[in-house]
Amino acid sequence: MTLLVTGGAGFIGSNFVLDWLADPAAEPIVNLDALTYAGNRQNLAALADDGRHLFVHGDIGTRELLDRLLQEHRPRAVLHLAAESHVDRSIHGPGAFIKTNVEGTFTLLEAVRAYWSALPHDARAAFRFLHVSTDEVYGSLAPDAPAFTEQHPYAPNSPYSASKAASDHLVRAWHHTYGLPVLTTNCSNNYGPLQFPEKLIPLMIANALAGKPLPIYGDGQQVRDWLYVGDHCSAIRTVLARGTPGEVYNIGGWNEQPNRAIVHTICGLLDELRPDPGGTYARLITHVKDRPGHDRRYAIDARKIERELGWRPGETFDSGIRKTVHWYLAHAAWVAAVQSGSYRDWVATNYAGRG
Ligand code: NAD
Ligand code: DAU
Repeated sequence: MTLLVTGGAGFIGSNFVLDWLADPAAEPIVNLDALTYAGNRQNLAALADDGRHLFVHGDIGTRELLDRLLQEHRPRAVLHLAAESHVDRSIHGPGAFIKTNVEGTFTLLEAVRAYWSALPHDARAAFRFLHVSTDEVYGSLAPDAPAFTEQHPYAPNSPYSASKAASDHLVRAWHHTYGLPVLTTNCSNNYGPLQFPEKLIPLMIANALAGKPLPIYGDGQQVRDWLYVGDHCSAIRTVLARGTPGEVYNIGGWNEQPNRAIVHTICGLLDELRPDPGGTYARLITHVKDRPGHDRRYAIDARKIERELGWRPGETFDSGIRKTVHWYLAHAAWVAAVQSGSYRDWVATNYAGRG
């Protein structure tokens, strides 16, 4: 019994693989990842001597590779996390998002369908394709609107969310048309160890420690629902074990906060844990030009996964953000290593001209 995980060298994928294999009785993982700028084998260094982890450097868009891996390893489930994941990058260069998130998911679905169709009856019934998606497919909420349920209409606003919405529709159609036993999860904003410092929380921690400006887009009153990555991993495990094929499960942290509040919390924790003789880190906060098409509010109604599968987040935001700041303080070398030349080019592209 094996799992095939795509995107397992990225932020959530590597947390998932590490979490899964922390159990000595866990099934092996074949980890397929293209190692884009966001993929990092160092995230998986702790598994170097673990025979249950097979890393494969490759693209979900390569059909022959997928066919070979499926035939050789005969997984009982595919967990699909590989994606281009950063909204700002999707605004600057949407092509890669269509290629991986739409075409790549299509190629993966077709390879998996061919493999699954040929399985013996019991293995076919037990097989699962778990698609990891996002709350951004539902679009933006008014301040007083109820949180997104699984019935909320799709209204993606960025090239990233449109590409993820397209992939969700493909996954749904492969279930309805071909009977592929799929599970889809739509999760809110994750944070935690190993997150690439292009995303809000690790970017703010890294910039603060370097004495650089903390760039808040627009008025900073955009609301996100933050979930600790370990809780997302436990939700994925729960859905894989007990979810009903064809169903969608929204995953969230019951923790809506405006971006400004998040940045102030990070500054407060750094003031406590790594005081700066120059004064509070909040002095570095700068308001910059807004993200085009910026969604104002996301919020997840996670009652279905709680009611039907018994999952709830284990961390509060206070406990999760404290762990996260501790992790980044203890892993300065990891941060320095990922702030390569291409990272610096990205920072220059994204923040130049925001004023
Ligand atoms: P990430 O950008 O950190 O990692 C993505 C990984 O996918 C990288 O390791 C990258 O190398 C790999 N990859 C990219 N293109 C590939 C390709 N063509 N073939 C194989 N591998 C490829 O992303 P993340 O934040 O870990 O997100 C993982 C998944 O979870 C994504 O599908 C994302 O849409 C979804 N998601 C993310 C969040 C969040 O807050 N980060 C929230 C909800 C859902
Ligand atoms: O909601 C789930 C989504 O959360 C995932 O599907 C995406 O993969 C993930 O990247 C994340 O998308 P966001 O756009 O919400 O995340 P990001 O960290 O880029 O931004 C969070 C908020 O902070 C958003 O309102 C934009 C704002 N922001 C971000 C950056 C990078 C700033 O104000 N300044 C910044 O420099």
